[in-house]
Amino acid sequence: MKNIAVFASGSGSNFQAIMDAINKGELKAELKLLVSDKANAYCIERAENYNIPTYVFSAKDFKSKAEYEQIIVSKLREMKVEFIVLAGYMRLIGPTLLKAYEGKIVNIHPSLLPAFPGKDAIGQALAAGVEETGITIHYVDEGMDTGPAIAQQSIKIEANESIESLQNKIHEIEHQLYPKVLNQLLQENTN
Ligand code: GRF
Repeated sequence: MKNIAVFASGSGSNFQAIMDAINKGELKAELKLLVSDKANAYCIERAENYNIPTYVFSAKDFKSKAEYEQIIVSKLREMKVEFIVLAGYMRLIGPTLLKAYEGKIVNIHPSLLPAFPGKDAIGQALAAGVEETGITIHYVDEGMDTGPAIAQQSIKIEANESIESLQNKIHEIEHQLYPKVLNQLLQENTN
């Protein structure tokens, strides 16, 4: 079984879905660590409730991204982490982490990339007046939501859609698709 770490900055509902899928045996992985850059994010409480070790840092305590990413890499190595799952981690991954985990970092984004990358993808889709949006699971590269797509699922936007209703639909699909796709990836990724 592959050892994974999840990186999150917010509520961590996707992190929760990953933990639940592992506990149900649907996602065959060992969750070794939660990394968060926000000391009071709810994802940390979720990790503590499940006795998952956490590494919490504040970017402003470091001189550079390279400096804090080097510490993260050391923690990951210490825990024998083989694969990194970003789930609402609101920072670009830098060369230090990308080199250490080449081809082994994935992210989930709430739009059909390449449409609506970056922040507030759900609000961007609503503002653009498109008829459908969706979610994308993709490999991470140095860009903002630019890495190769692994899986996508679309969602229809209704005439009376609000940010909240669309967000709920997106989360529901994310929570099903992310653990499923991760399970496939981790079984295929044998080196
Ligand atoms: C998700 O919608 C994900 O697509 C995006 O950030 C959100 C995180 O939500 N990258 P949560 O913290 O998992 O609830």
